[in-house]
Amino acid sequence: MTFNSDELTRYLELTPESRALWEEAREYLPGGDSRNSIFWRPYPIFITSASGCHVVDADNVDRLDFINTMTTMILGHGPEPVLKAVQGQLEHGLAYNAPNRHQIRLAKLLCQRLPSFDRVRFTNSGTEATLNTLRAARAFTGKSRFAKVEGGYHGTHDAVSVSIRVDPALAGEPNRPQALASSSGLADGVVDQVVVLPFNETDSALAILEEHREELAAVIVEPLLGSVGMVPAKPEFLQMLRRFTQEHGIILIFDEVISFRVAPGGCQEYYGVTPDLTSLGKIIGGGFAVGAFGGRRDIMDLYDPTLGPQVGHAGTFNANPITMLAGAVTLEELTPQVYRKLSERTDYLRHGIQQICARQEVPVQVTGLGSLFGIHFIDRPINNYRDIAAGDAALREQVFLGLMNEGVLLAPNLVGGLSTAISQPDMDAFLSAFERVLQRQN
Ligand SMILES: Cc1ncc(COP(=O)(O)O)c(C=O)c1O
Repeated sequence: MTFNSDELTRYLELTPESRALWEEAREYLPGGDSRNSIFWRPYPIFITSASGCHVVDADNVDRLDFINTMTTMILGHGPEPVLKAVQGQLEHGLAYNAPNRHQIRLAKLLCQRLPSFDRVRFTNSGTEATLNTLRAARAFTGKSRFAKVEGGYHGTHDAVSVSIRVDPALAGEPNRPQALASSSGLADGVVDQVVVLPFNETDSALAILEEHREELAAVIVEPLLGSVGMVPAKPEFLQMLRRFTQEHGIILIFDEVISFRVAPGGCQEYYGVTPDLTSLGKIIGGGFAVGAFGGRRDIMDLYDPTLGPQVGHAGTFNANPITMLAGAVTLEELTPQVYRKLSERTDYLRHGIQQICARQEVPVQVTGLGSLFGIHFIDRPINNYRDIAAGDAALREQVFLGLMNEGVLLAPNLVGGLSTAISQPDMDAFLSAFERVLQRQN
C-alpha cells in the first residue's frame, strides 16, 4: 500500500483560516494550544461552533463529531435540558464560597449508580481525581509504591506520568515492562515508585505483583484502556487484580474517567468487579471542567474534616453549581435505554468498519465497548499497549487526515466515542467517508 500525500494537500486547502489562527496562537502559546494530547500535524483545526453531532471550524467546514471532546459530550453539543438548566443557574450565581444543592444531586446519582461508591468528592479534572485516589490509598495503607499498567493514562500529575505512550524498543520485555518517565521534569524518585504491569497478561501481571506485594499501596487501572486505544480488559485480568489486592490489603483503583460511559454503573458494573476507589471525569460534568473520586466509606472518611482531617483536599472551583447541575442533568438523561441505543449504534459502526477493511483488504482490529471504539490497522488481536504500538502508524495518520477532509472528526489515533446526537444516517455517512478514504490509499 502506498500513501497518498494528496490528503495533506487537501487538508491545507480546506483549512487556511485554522492555519492562520494556529500561527497567531503560536506567538503566545507553546505549540498554539494548551492540550498536547489533541495536537496533530500539520496543525489542528480551530473550532468556532458546535451543535448536536456537528462541529464547524474557522473555515466554515462542518464535520461530524465522533470523538465528542475526548468522549465527554455524550449527549452531543448543546443538549436542550443541560443548556436550559445551566441558563437558569447562571442567574443565581456562578461559584459560591459554600456548598450548593446541585452537588448533593450529582453525588447521590453517582452513589446510586456506581457499585463502589459509598462516598464521593468532586474536583475540576480527572487528573486531580486520580491524584486523590492514589493519595488516599497511600494514606490508608501507609505504603508508597503503586502499580499501573503500561499504556494506562491517568492524567498529568507526576505520579502517573510513567509508562504511558512509551517507545517499545526502550521499555523492556512486553510481559515485564520497565517503568519509564513519560514526561521530562518529574521529581526524583517518581519513576521508582511505580511497578508497571502488562495489561491483559494475567499470569505475567500476577507474577510481577507477587514480587512487590509487601510494598504496594494501590493498583490503578483503566478497566478499558482508554485514550491510547480503547482496549477492554479481559474479565479474568480484572478479577485477578481484585483477588490479589483483596488478599494483600492493597487498594484497587479503577480509573473510569473514560470508561464510566460504558454502562450506568461504569465498567465496574459491566464486569461485575468492584474496586475500592474510582476516579471519574468527562461525562459527569455535562461539558464543564470536572473530576470526582469516590469509593469505600472507611477510605473516603480520610477526607472528612469532622473526623480529622487526615488528607487535605481543596479547590476553589470544586463542585461549583454550574458543573454539578450540568452533570446531574446529563446523568438523568442517560437512562438504560439510552446506553443500549448507544451501544447498538457503536456495534453497527465497528462492524461496518470491519466490513469495509475486509473489502479493501486492509488488516484491521476494531476495539471498544459500549459507545467507545478504536481503529487499529494490524492483523492480530489487540490486547495491550504493545499491540497498539505495533499498528500501522503511517496509515493511521493518513486515515485521520482523510476523515478530516471528508468531514469527520476523530482523535488522531482513531479512537472515538459516540453521542446520542449521532443518528443512523450520520453513522452511514461516517462509513461511506471511511471507505472513500481507504480507497484513496490504494
Ligand atoms: C482514564 C483517564 N484518566 C484521567 C484523565 C485525566 O482527566 P483530565 O483530562 O480531566 O485531567 C483522562 C483524560 O483523558 C483519562 O482518559
